[in-house]
This record gives sequence, structure tokens and C-alpha cells, in this order.
Amino acid sequence: MRKLIPVYIRIPLLYVIMFGVLEYFIDSGDRPALVKYPVVALFHVVFIFLLIAIEVVLNSVDKVSYQLLSEEEKAKLEADKNKPLAQQQAFKNWMRKLTASRSINEEKDMLLDHDYDGIKELDNVLPPWWVGLFYATVVFALVYLVRFHIMGDYTQDEEFTTEMKIADAKVEEYKKTAPDLMDKEKVTLLTDAGAIAAGKTLFDANCVACHRADAGGAIGPNLTDNKWILGGGIKNVFNTIMEGGRPGKGMVPWKESIKPSDIQKIASYVLSLQGTNPKDPKPTEPEAKEWKEEGAAAPATETPAPTAVDSTAKK
Ligand code: HEC
Repeated sequence: MRKLIPVYIRIPLLYVIMFGVLEYFIDSGDRPALVKYPVVALFHVVFIFLLIAIEVVLNSVDKVSYQLLSEEEKAKLEADKNKPLAQQQAFKNWMRKLTASRSINEEKDMLLDHDYDGIKELDNVLPPWWVGLFYATVVFALVYLVRFHIMGDYTQDEEFTTEMKIADAKVEEYKKTAPDLMDKEKVTLLTDAGAIAAGKTLFDANCVACHRADAGGAIGPNLTDNKWILGGGIKNVFNTIMEGGRPGKGMVPWKESIKPSDIQKIASYVLSLQGTNPKDPKPTEPEAKEWKEEGAAAPATETPAPTAVDSTAKK
């Protein structure tokens, strides 16, 4: 085996395997164990050192035993080294170990006395690689049987739910860092205090110059009544802030300077101001129309207790 894999592959390979095993079995959170635990780093150094030391020792042993060979044997060994891999002695030995194949000359010893019109049968052993695999599956099955059917570690259903939970958490995590997937179709009215407060901060920083701190309107229209030029409801208000008002009116598209997820907060804040009746509001623009949420109860008739309308509800 050692002769088949050259040293410049063998050492890195063993090292990578060791690295993988350590990282797999040592729970070190988001940082690799190598970085987190100095002991592990020390182990890496020792491991590399040992690998190299073993190579050096084996190499010297090889050299010494080479010197002990007769000239004839040396020549044979050299000749063998230059052959293609499949014909080298080491490879052949290795293959024989794996397959336990017998040479064609030995066949007469293995012949069974079955003879069907000249078709004969050899008593070959099972190849060791196959037997090894077979025993491995037996061990696996035993462990599996005890773990899942006797101890009842967890069921497939539980495994599924756990995995779904992990996946959901990942999606949530992803949404947190990539909230700017927000668009007109997906936008929803936020009602939690945190989002509204964040919306107010952004509104105070960007919008009060034209809409006034209480949103009663100055250059821009009053945002607290239910009459809208460009449509009310979270989707329209979001869209107006994103894309701006009608050309030449002074309301620019804010998507160039504010993240869509923040615009969602501003829009939610603006809508939370509905009906706050600030002092001396800007008169309603003639183009503005009363906005009625789709699915809202028709006014006047038997008005039920006013309920908050969820503009995001599916129709
Ligand atoms: C430079 C002045 C100016 C600034 C700053 C400004 N707006 Fe406007 N806004 C306007 C004008 C003017 C209109 C009317 C647009 C039209 O008639 O098409 C408007 C319209 C709107 C409308 C639609 C009102 C309706 O009746 O449909 C909303 C909502 C709005 N602005 C929100 C904001 C928000 C939120 C900000 C801050 C991010 C902001 N605006 C910043 C001038 C401004």
C-alpha cells in the first residue's frame, strides 16, 4: 500500500482525513476547532511532525534493506519500479489480497466434480473486499437495529420535523440578512413597535422637509387622511415611496437611497398615522381620492364594529 501511493499524496491525504475527522467530531460552533482550541492546533502540529517522522524512518528502513539485497535482487526491484502500476509487484500483491484470486495454474485444485456437458465449476472463495463489505453491513444493521428499533432514538417523522425546523430557522436567518427581497408584491404592513419606531426615525430624517414632522403636509400632501393621490394601503404607499410620485412633483424615488425593507417600515409608519388629525393640515389635493381597502366592509349600511383591515390578507 505504502509503495502504491507516493509520499507527496500520502502525507497531505492523511492530514486532510485527520483534519476532517477532527472538525467533524469537535463541536466548535461557527469557528473551526483548529482556530478555537489551541490544543487542537497543537495536535495538528504534532500530527504533521509524526507523519513526517514516520516517513523518514520508513524511508531509512527501505534504504537499509535495499543495501542488504543481493545485486540480482536490486536489479529486479529497479526493473519493477519502472513498470506501469498495474504490473508492479506491490500492486499485484495488493490486488491479490483484495480479491484472493488464484492463478490459472491452480485451477485444477479448485475444480469441483460438477460437470455439465463439459461446463465445470471452480470452488473460488468469496473475494475478501466483498466479505469485508458484507461484515460492515452486518455491523451497521446491528447498530441500526439497536439504536432505532430497541432504544427508539428517533423516528423518521421526528427527523423530518427537526430538519424542517432547522431549514425554517435558516430561512429566517437568511431573510434577516437579505431583507431587501422586499417588493411591491410581498410587502406587508408592519405593526410591531420596533418597526414603526424605525420607520419614524427614517421618516424624520428624510421626509419631514416636505411632509412635516406630523405628516400634515407642506410641499408634499397630507399623509394622515384617507385621501390618496397615488393610492392608499401598504402596497401603494410602499410603491409610491419606492418609485416616487408623478414626474415633476418633487417626490423622488427613494429606492435609490433607502433599502426596500426600510421603506416597508417607513410606509408602515406613515400608515400608522392615519386619522391622527394634525393641526392645520395641508388641504386635500383635488386629485386625491378616498382609499377603500379591498375587502373592507361597505360603509354606511350596517356598520359592524370597525376592525383593523389587514391589507396583506389574501383575497
Ligand atoms: C422634496 C419634497 C418631498 C420629500 C423629501 C418627500 N416627499 Fe413625499 N411627496 C412629495 C410630493 C410633492 C408628493 C406628491 C406627489 C404627486 O403628486 O405625485 C409626495 C407624495 C407622497 C406620498 C403619496 C401621497 C398620496 O396622496 O398618494 C407618500 C406616501 C409620500 N410622499 C411619502 C414620503 C416619504 C415616506 C418620504 C420620505 C422618505 C417623502 N415622501 C419625502 C414631496 C416630498
